[in-house]
Amino acid sequence: MKTKNKILTAAAVTFGVAAVSEWAISNNSLEANRIAVRSSKVPLSFDGFRIAHISDMHCSGFGHGNERLLRKIKTQYPDIVAITGDMIEDENSDFASLFNLIEKLVLKYPVYYVMGNHELMLGEDAYNSMMSQLSLCGATVMDNSSTVIKRNNDEIILTGLCNSLCFYAQRKKDTVTPMTLEKMKEMVGEADTSRYNILLAHSPFSFDAYSEWGADLTLSGHVHGGMIRLPKIGGIFSPDFSFFPEYQGGLYDDGKNYMVVNKGLGSARIPVRFFNKPEISVVTLKSKRDMSF
Ligand SMILES: [Fe+2]
Repeated sequence: MKTKNKILTAAAVTFGVAAVSEWAISNNSLEANRIAVRSSKVPLSFDGFRIAHISDMHCSGFGHGNERLLRKIKTQYPDIVAITGDMIEDENSDFASLFNLIEKLVLKYPVYYVMGNHELMLGEDAYNSMMSQLSLCGATVMDNSSTVIKRNNDEIILTGLCNSLCFYAQRKKDTVTPMTLEKMKEMVGEADTSRYNILLAHSPFSFDAYSEWGADLTLSGHVHGGMIRLPKIGGIFSPDFSFFPEYQGGLYDDGKNYMVVNKGLGSARIPVRFFNKPEISVVTLKSKRDMSF
């Protein structure tokens, strides 16, 4: 009996140490996930254009002054940095480290930012204040707006969609307004489909509408990789209170357009990430004028 108890104790301790070790790895390490997307609509000047895409930091940090995150981004040699929201927690009022991060990033790269549901949950005054502060730091806040990025004589279009909270599942409210093409047009206008369109949108769950609107490439976050990732199963839980989310992380396509879902840099409220390292998505555009999808 004593031997059996010792074996059970040793197994429990081993499991506990392994779980704590994996928790520490999954919450503190940082990996770059490189993805290439090809399109005949990518102008030749943008062949090799590289986007460092980060999301869902939720007030976490990577070294003093986020030096590890900044170094990781620098070693990817991006042309721009795209941030797809939830960089803060709505219950936290100290965003100094985020503003400090933005100030450091804009010294080297154009930075484009769309808000996530946690920024929206701040309330109108705090949201507007944050938007002003991010702009003062030098970021371009894409609040249902578009901008043209130029290289030589070529152009691509970057649009930021700020889905309001009705498009998110929330704890005390189980009705979610479906995103439609008409709503997309109301929010961000018609897409100029003669040019390559990149859409920044925090939630990936409306990929159908984004693609129908004309987004050749959508960059999203929100799902945190499904928080706990298991081999052959993938992510288990979404912040939208659903199990086995359809879009968890990586590259998706619908036969026409692409979407990259970033697994996030942190966790909301409960710090649960297992087998799920914080990541930077590094998206490289590839031009091929004579190819079909
Ligand atoms: Fe998030």
